[in-house]
Amino acid sequence: MFFNLKPRLMEVSTETRMQQMAGRGLVVFPLPLQGHINPMLQLANILHSRGFNITVIHTQYNSLNPSKYPHFTFRPISDGLLETPPSTERGRDLLTLLNVNCVAPFRDCLVQLLSSVSEEPIACLITDAIWHFTQAVADGLKLPRLVLHSGNISFLAFAAHPFLREKGFLPKQETIGLHRIIHIHLVIFSDSQTEEPVEALPPLKIKDFPTMDIANPEDDLYMLIDGMVKANKGSSGFIWNSFEELEQPALATLRGRSIVPLFPIGPFHKYFPASSSSLLAQDPSSISWLDTQSPKSVIYVSFGSLATFDETEFLEMAWGLANSMQPFLWVVRPGLIRGSEWLEPLRNGFLEAVSGRGHIVKWAPQQEVLAHPATGGFWTHSGWNSTLESICEGVPMICSPRSNDQMVSARYASDVWRVGVQLENGLERVDVERAIRKLMESEGEEMRERIMCLKEKADLCLREGGSSYQSLESLVNYIFSF
Ligand code: UDX
Repeated sequence: MFFNLKPRLMEVSTETRMQQMAGRGLVVFPLPLQGHINPMLQLANILHSRGFNITVIHTQYNSLNPSKYPHFTFRPISDGLLETPPSTERGRDLLTLLNVNCVAPFRDCLVQLLSSVSEEPIACLITDAIWHFTQAVADGLKLPRLVLHSGNISFLAFAAHPFLREKGFLPKQETIGLHRIIHIHLVIFSDSQTEEPVEALPPLKIKDFPTMDIANPEDDLYMLIDGMVKANKGSSGFIWNSFEELEQPALATLRGRSIVPLFPIGPFHKYFPASSSSLLAQDPSSISWLDTQSPKSVIYVSFGSLATFDETEFLEMAWGLANSMQPFLWVVRPGLIRGSEWLEPLRNGFLEAVSGRGHIVKWAPQQEVLAHPATGGFWTHSGWNSTLESICEGVPMICSPRSNDQMVSARYASDVWRVGVQLENGLERVDVERAIRKLMESEGEEMRERIMCLKEKADLCLREGGSSYQSLESLVNYIFSF
């Protein structure tokens, strides 16, 4: 079995709930990466609006700014990164190191919170799924832990699918877990770039699976996923930034396997409009520049907070954009191009060629950009937050997934929801140009109609009686039952 804790859902009347509400504290612990901080703080805001008091434990790395959240209490902990910096600033190394370094400081902080008479009694802990060490800490303190998954549901669902067992690839006595499935999958299909469809898991292809060095039991991603799966077995429930109507098949698969409750209560960012959890300053010229452009004419280009490209890829992207003759707003984060500070590789007349038609910023107010009437398309790395934000504004996408759950989000966007064009074969300028024309001209209207239907479903699911509305009610009742 995937999980081992019985759900404790129960009905609590509004009156009883109000009585219980006094002194209900929640401790949240976001992973210190932009794509994980945003949904955790949005979730904290949602639960605060339902009467919970929020304490945020956070690392020094990508430290949060308490002044943006005066209604929360912030507790910084030491993460040891100054003493033992990871070999790369980001990525798997960092996450592995944080999961080791934070154990003692996190436990000490939690013990202090639990024993302090001046603090509200704490109902439960909510941590990002990648903070796997926190399950053991919570167990030791007899504190229920809810897990926030920042990615799409389909990523976990396909991993838990019994496909390989049915095919006889799994030993019958084997316990199914995410790590085991991916491990065996990659043993069988060692070339993870193949186009071959995974027949029992439409629409996924072999290349949509994340790659890892399975020959090396110390592989960071393998160990992270392994740790996550083991920790999740002991958790009290999963919260998803997604909604029933968007990922119904994946949810059904998971529900069939999970004995802890699942709470798809997204899209989180629609509960509270602007995101104040941005680690980088959002350049307001993004909006003033969009104001000068015609309706639905601009392609917005952004690859989230972590993706990087080599110089050759970057220049192909740049010239693909230039040759498309389409206006564009491009987020080029410092560090996006490996080996460059910022725009140094853009020589040889590129900036002159796109003058007046292209605007480049270091970081944008993305939700406002997507909601702007001039934005007609989004070229994205298919990070889950970006995918949801695009759906919620009815903006069709070009998908260039880079890693982890992004390949699955991109596959769903292009092949299931059919609201995006996927750049499947790298980033050659002719392919980029063709994809932009497809999105902004030939197939754009049909994709826009389909994504507008999804946008409507996203709006409806949050209204009274909608799927996420009900799921949030269940989550609140569930937390009161602890
Ligand atoms: C990561 C993973 O890549 C993603 O696959 C996973 O699902 C969550 O964590 P990231 O790569 O940063 O996140 O992408 P994404 O999930 O899209 O999150 C980026 C966030 O930064 C979004 O909320 C977006 O609105 C915000 N953003 C991005 C800005 O505010 N300004 C920008 O210029 C770009």
